[in-house]
Amino acid sequence: MALERTFSIIKPDAVAKNVIGAIYNRFESAGLRIVAAKMLHLSKEKAEGFYAEHKERPFFPALVDFMTSGPVMIQVLEGENAVAKNREIMGATNPAEALAGTLRSDYAESIDENAVHGSDAVESAAREIAYFFADEEVCPRTR
Ligand code: TYD
Ligand code: MG
Repeated sequence: MALERTFSIIKPDAVAKNVIGAIYNRFESAGLRIVAAKMLHLSKEKAEGFYAEHKERPFFPALVDFMTSGPVMIQVLEGENAVAKNREIMGATNPAEALAGTLRSDYAESIDENAVHGSDAVESAAREIAYFFADEEVCPRTR
């Protein structure tokens, strides 16, 4: 088992539904610790940069519009196998295919408005964390 960090976004649809606390409860119940967090409203440039890997995909403009449509809550989650554990808690990209009890099954309406983001690998997690948080904004456990 490896102590890892992963990057998470509670997307504008879930913030609008007022389920930030419910989602944090899922992370904490699964043994993931919130070691950095902030609310912000993404600019178009910031959202485009974050999803740059998808910029040639047909859904990219709609994805950027959605991600800038309201505030998001972003956090760094730390724990054993945090990357895979968070992906498991989130469920499949398409909520219609997400297992019952996952965040996307419970809170997402469609593949393009799917409630949460989570890094897909340790390497992308490091890149995504650095894209949003300064080193001193991440607070490892001290007690
Ligand atoms: P992707 O990285 O494939 O999914 P995940 O968020 O599970 O890692 O896609 C990034 C986001 O792009 C996804 O959360 C929602 C959006 N998206 C669409 O709107 N339509 C699609 O067909 C796909 C594949 C993704
Ligand atoms: Mg992805």
